[in-house]
Amino acid sequence: MQSNQLIRYLEEVLNQSLSSEESSIKQSFKLYLGDNGVEFRPRLPSSLIMDSNLYFEIYDILSFALYPEYTLIRPASILFKINDGPLETARSFFFPWKIGQSKRLIGTVSELLASQSPNRISVMDGIEYDFNKGVHVVITGPTGSGKTQALRFFLEVTHKLGQLILIDPKKSDGARWAKKHADVSLVVPNKGDRPEDLLPRVTETLSNALQIINERQDALYTDTDKVSANYLDLGFEPIFLCIDEVASLCIGLKKSLLNDFHSLLLQISLLGREAGIFLILSLQEARHDLLPVAVRSQMGVRILLGRIDKNSAQYLFPELHSSDFPLPSGGKGTGIISINDGEHFGIEPVAMPTIIGEE
Ligand SMILES: Nc1ncnc2c1ncn2[C@@H]1O[C@H](COP(=O)(O)OP(=O)(O)O)[C@@H](O)[C@H]1O
Ligand SMILES: [Mg+2]
Repeated sequence: MQSNQLIRYLEEVLNQSLSSEESSIKQSFKLYLGDNGVEFRPRLPSSLIMDSNLYFEIYDILSFALYPEYTLIRPASILFKINDGPLETARSFFFPWKIGQSKRLIGTVSELLASQSPNRISVMDGIEYDFNKGVHVVITGPTGSGKTQALRFFLEVTHKLGQLILIDPKKSDGARWAKKHADVSLVVPNKGDRPEDLLPRVTETLSNALQIINERQDALYTDTDKVSANYLDLGFEPIFLCIDEVASLCIGLKKSLLNDFHSLLLQISLLGREAGIFLILSLQEARHDLLPVAVRSQMGVRILLGRIDKNSAQYLFPELHSSDFPLPSGGKGTGIISINDGEHFGIEPVAMPTIIGEE
């Protein structure tokens, strides 16, 4: 659609949806299209109340009206733009978008790896980020929603980027994958282990990671003159620490053991970025007793797979409190993603890569 046609179409859609029987809002706003999104500029005075209810109501209407030519991205909170000109029209709501739809990556491991750019992780054709900025990743969703497959994708990619440590409490797909990759450090239960037998080895692994963080911090203090420096300045390799099904480490544990585990996770999540130690976690629900809120809030990349509703989104996406949800793409390994790296705006639909065959 031409942009003037598109503006007319969207203005009409908003008029129909937002006007009441008594009053039309037709004369009270204008839309402007840019490369990155659409601007809703009210002309004051107007009957419209420019609050977050209105913002997300407009978001819902536009999101539906624009799909699939454009994919609207749901910001965590209102985005404003300030305009030059008269005070009556000096501000607008801004709705970021992406042209078209992102496409799921489907291919063999080599094909998926070939589609990645240096230092970046492409989750879809159209959704990619610098792992040094996205930092830690958490994947949640019910059984069968595609967490392990998603983790497998991260394993394949991060394995090429740096060192990989994998903790697989269920000794399943990840553990079998690691068997074929001798350079991966694997922590799995020994035969007959109970959760309390595995956890000390897990905490030892996390303590070692924390030790590396401390050493790298010292090195950054003594060996560079730059004020804002990170592990890359000293030529260190990134280290990725992956845990599949975090919850299965936590069940049935004494409170003190669990606290140790959580406190290590928290320290790594807080200090890992500069030192180049990145967490990739999967669990069914990011419940507070399984993943402390402080750890959760350090997760720059949040992925929720499976059915998306108020209930399933409450832990990982607490900002999604109203009835509105981004368009689900449907099918295995699909859901929503948010990347907090300073480049992305908010929540968007995601379909995790499909890996074909074994290599
Ligand atoms: N991204 C995906 N592409 C294609 N199929 C998938 C994808 N993710 C999951 N599946 C299918 O769904 C099944 C269950 O996924 P899995 O990752 O084991 O779920 P979870 O770990 O959440 O229980 C997989 O065996 C696979 O057949
Ligand atoms: Mg799984």
